Amino acid sequence: MNWFTKTFSSTVGRKIIMAVTGLFLCSFLVVHLIGNLQLFRNDGGEAFNVYSHFMASNPIIRVMEIILVLGFVFHIYDALVLTRRNKAARPVSYANNHPEENSSWASRNMGLLGTIILVFLIIHLWNFFVPARFGGLDGVVIEDVEYDNLYLRVVESFQIWWYVAIYVISMVALAYHLIHGFQSAFQSLGLDHKKYTPFIQKFGVAFSILVCLGFAVIPLYFFFLV
Ligand code: HEM
Repeated sequence: MNWFTKTFSSTVGRKIIMAVTGLFLCSFLVVHLIGNLQLFRNDGGEAFNVYSHFMASNPIIRVMEIILVLGFVFHIYDALVLTRRNKAARPVSYANNHPEENSSWASRNMGLLGTIILVFLIIHLWNFFVPARFGGLDGVVIEDVEYDNLYLRVVESFQIWWYVAIYVISMVALAYHLIHGFQSAFQSLGLDHKKYTPFIQKFGVAFSILVCLGFAVIPLYFFFLV
């Protein structure tokens, strides 16, 4: 094993990979949310359909998508390896262990929260990403050019109450996952500082709540107001 493989398969190395991929996925969420805000324009979905077409056809975005998939794969794989190592290191829990006294609920349930997000992602991609990339959507003509009507798919999906419920519940899980994950990433990267850590923690909480609220508002808006 060379030094590179050795470093990145060690526990510290895997934590660093989880931190870097986690922060990268956070940046994706911001870009994705800003793109989705096009849905609120009162233009019958024109801006959103043109934006989605750009995302589907731009070669740079396609390369970014591959990096995004790798980000998810490494993040999930390292989470599984680290959980298994933790369990193997302490197969029997301490008799007088009261984890709720010195750790948050989110930090003890990152695996459960991550699993809810993964199930959400599979449902989400199947409904939006797969037809957007591989066909199955109605067409719409905008200024003499034919586009896939992804906007219509969004509107129709968010008329279904249980679909909206899946999104809202998943966004609560995502918020808790990010609240712990954000500050934990900075710790794993060794960026612990008496002066800056409290700010990073507060910023992480605000970031997680705002981003997840932004995503949760979309299905609620289409269900109740459109
Ligand atoms: C209500 C909120 C959301 C809406 C309306 C929405 C909408 C969409 C749409 C329409 C696509 C297909 C775009 C295209 O391929 O051109 C897409 C793709 C995707 N979404 Fe979402 N999304 C939402 C929330 C989320 C969340 C919370 C996550 C992650 C946890 C996420 C992750 C992804 C990923 C990974 C892709 C594929 C990559 C991409 O096309 O950029 N989405 N989303």
